[in-house]
Amino acid sequence: MSKGPPERYFRTPVTAPGPQGGDMLRAFGLIRTNPLAFLEQTWHELGDVVQFPIPSPPSYLISDPEAVDRVLRVNQRAYGKRTIQYTSLSLVTGEGLLTADTEAWRQQRRVVQPAFHPTQVEKVADHVAVSCARLDGEWSALPDGTVIDVDAAMMHTALEVVGRALFGTDLSGDAATLAHATLAALDVVVGKARNPLSPPLWVPTPGNLTLRRSLSILDGAVERMLAERRLRPVGIEREPDMLDLLVEGFGGGGPVRNQMVTFLVAGHETVASALTWSWHLLDTSPDAAAMLRDEALTVLGDRDATFADFPHLPYARAVVDEALRLYPPAWLITRKAHEDDVLAGHTVPAGALVIISPWIVHRHPDLWPDPERFEPSRFLGTGASDSNRTGYLPFGSGPRMCIGRDFALLEATLIMSSLARRWTFEGVDAASVHAEPLVTVRPRDGLPMRVRRLVADEG
Ligand code: HEM
Repeated sequence: MSKGPPERYFRTPVTAPGPQGGDMLRAFGLIRTNPLAFLEQTWHELGDVVQFPIPSPPSYLISDPEAVDRVLRVNQRAYGKRTIQYTSLSLVTGEGLLTADTEAWRQQRRVVQPAFHPTQVEKVADHVAVSCARLDGEWSALPDGTVIDVDAAMMHTALEVVGRALFGTDLSGDAATLAHATLAALDVVVGKARNPLSPPLWVPTPGNLTLRRSLSILDGAVERMLAERRLRPVGIEREPDMLDLLVEGFGGGGPVRNQMVTFLVAGHETVASALTWSWHLLDTSPDAAAMLRDEALTVLGDRDATFADFPHLPYARAVVDEALRLYPPAWLITRKAHEDDVLAGHTVPAGALVIISPWIVHRHPDLWPDPERFEPSRFLGTGASDSNRTGYLPFGSGPRMCIGRDFALLEATLIMSSLARRWTFEGVDAASVHAEPLVTVRPRDGLPMRVRRLVADEG
C-alpha cells in the first residue's frame, strides 16, 4: 500500500494518508473475508489516522489513543451512531439502546438503567452457579480427556445466564426460540454489512427470506413471553427480573421487544467470546493457568463462586481483562461525525465515518509493552485501577459505554474461577485456532479442547 497523493476522482477533501484505490481493489477479497486483518494491515502500513479512498462518506480509521478518546468521550457530542454497522444491526434489534442515537438514546438509557442496578447485577452470580453446576454434571459424565467444543459450551452457558437474568427462565421454550432466531438473523446482517451491493429487505433473496422469517419468529416469541408474564404477577408468583423493569419503564410493546433483542445480541456472544479466548490464551501459558487454578482452589475450595467471592478473585478478573484486550469481542466501533473535528492533527469533516478498532488500539505499542504477549498481571496491583485507562476499550468509552460491563465482568470472572477449580483445558491444536471477526471475534472452527478433571478433585 502507498501513501500516495490524492487521486483525481477523489471528490472529498483528502486530509490524511491512505491507500490508493488500486490497493483497495486488490484488498477486496481480504476486506470481505477478514476485515479485521485488512484494518490491522492498513494500520501497520499507514499509521494512526488513515483515510480510505471512498468518495462518500469520507471514511477514516482512527487508532491514535488520544483521538479515540476524543471521539468516544471528550467530544462525543459531535458524533452519532447512524453508521452502516448500527443501521444493519437495527434490522434485528430495532431502535434499542445499542443502536439508538442522540435524544432517543438518552431517554432510553434513563429507562433501562434500573435493570442494571447493582442489586440486579448481583443476581448474575446465582445464575452462573446454576450453569457451572450443569457443566460439571455434563462433563463428569464424559470419559476424562474427552474433546469438547469449548466455544459452543461457552455460548450455551452465556445464553443461559443472560436468559435467566433477563427472562427469569432457563432458555427453554420461547426463550430458546428467541435466541436462535436472533442468531440466525445476525448471520444475515453481518453479510449485509460487508456487502455494499446487498439488496434491500423486500427483495426475496435467500438471506432476506431467512432474516424476515427470523424477525417474525422473534416478534411472535416476544409477544407470547410478555403475555405469559401478565398471568404471573411479580411479587406473588415470582421475583422481579430485568424484563419486569423494562416492562415497567417502557410499558411493553415494540420498545420492550427492541431492548430484549438488544440485550440478547449484546450480552450473549460477547461474554461467550471473552470466555472462549480466555481458555485459549491460558492454554498457551501454563503459568497463568496454574495461577488461576491456585487462586480458585484457595478462595473457593470445593464450592462454586458466589457474589461475595468476586473481590477475592483478582487473578481470574485479570485473565478476563487481558483476554478482552487481546481479543476484544466488539472488534469494531463506528461513529458518524456530525460536525468538523480535528483528530491527531487531521481534519475529519462533518458526515465522515469514523472507524475505531479496539483490537488495534489494544495493540498500540505506545501503551502496551510487548502487545501480543498474554500477560494478565498487566491488570494486577497498581495496573488494576487502570482498566478504564485511555487505550483500553473492550466496553467502549464515554456515555455510550457498555451498560452490561459489570454484568459481563462478574459473569466471566465467576465462570472462569468456578470451572478452573475442577477442570483443566488442553487445546487439541492451538496453532490452528484462527480469530474470525463476525458480530464478535470468534474462533473460526470452534475451539476443540480436552477437558480433564483435576486430580485433587477426585478424592
Ligand atoms: C464481554 C462482554 C461485553 C462486551 C465486550 C461488550 C462490549 C460493548 C461495547 C464496545 C459497547 C459500546 C459500543 C459503542 O460505543 O458503539 C457496548 C454497548 C452496549 N452493551 Fe455491551 N458488551 C458486553 C456485554 C454486555 C452485556 C452482558 C449486556 C447486557 C446484558 C450488554 C449490553 C449493551 C448495551 C445495551 C449497549 C449499548 C449501551 C448504550 O449505548 O447506552 N453488553 N457493549
